Amino acid sequence: MVTATTYTEAPPPPPLVAAGVETARLRLRLFTPEDLDGLCAITSDPVVMRYIGHGRPFSREETWDNLERIINAFRRRGHGRWALERRDTGALVGYCGISAGNPAVGVELAYMLARAEWGKGFALEAGRASLRYGFEELGLDSIAGLTLHGNRRSQAVLKRLGMKYVRDARYYDFACVHYAITRADWRRDESPYRVIQGQ
Ligand SMILES: CC(C)(COP(=O)(O)OP(=O)(O)OC[C@H]1O[C@@H](n2cnc3c(N)ncnc32)[C@H](O)[C@@H]1OP(=O)(O)O)[C@@H](O)C(=O)NCCC(=O)NCCS
Repeated sequence: MVTATTYTEAPPPPPLVAAGVETARLRLRLFTPEDLDGLCAITSDPVVMRYIGHGRPFSREETWDNLERIINAFRRRGHGRWALERRDTGALVGYCGISAGNPAVGVELAYMLARAEWGKGFALEAGRASLRYGFEELGLDSIAGLTLHGNRRSQAVLKRLGMKYVRDARYYDFACVHYAITRADWRRDESPYRVIQGQ
């Protein structure tokens, strides 16, 4: 049985925020306002946005709101969505990280990649690093993965990450599939992973 991470008392203060995480091909780093153009290039693509929110592309203003929320939530909680940068080109290719999620689900793994970067294993690589960061650095007990029903590519990522199916459910009035992995079931793998300390 997989249960959501809940706090019975006041939540602990946010841990020290690492500057980022490096994997074999990616740098997971904090978002900045300068990422707006790069993020707009991704969120303006209807194929990328099909299973996010109401399933339509974001305008520049909506992307700015989204970016501000990501930056502020990370500051407030000490964790959240990292910007995903390719180490070879320095290009912003998406986001991945542990976000607050629905209270019924608990902390949640979130990810999004530019369409041109699908099919290269980047979501798997960033997702592995985010789970490791969540269990080792944030001390979480379990991490959920929530996708809209038709989002097969995302469900495939969650399964490849070792998450288990929990239930089909309606969250935020959307038909979702809920996956999760507990700290007890999670296994660290040998793929390159380095936490970059400091701001
Ligand atoms: C969900 C999403 C991140 C999945 O991306 P993805 O590229 O399919 O996922 P992965 O990184 O795991 O890559 C797997 C694919 O890369 C291939 N691959 C290539 N090189 C690889 C490598 N070095 N390691 C692993 N897989 C590799 C795999 O064979 C697999 O190919 P397939 O799609 O033909 O089966 C992407 O579709 C996306 O951004 N969607 C829009 C946003 C979204 O829906 N987010 C989720 C909301 S819940």
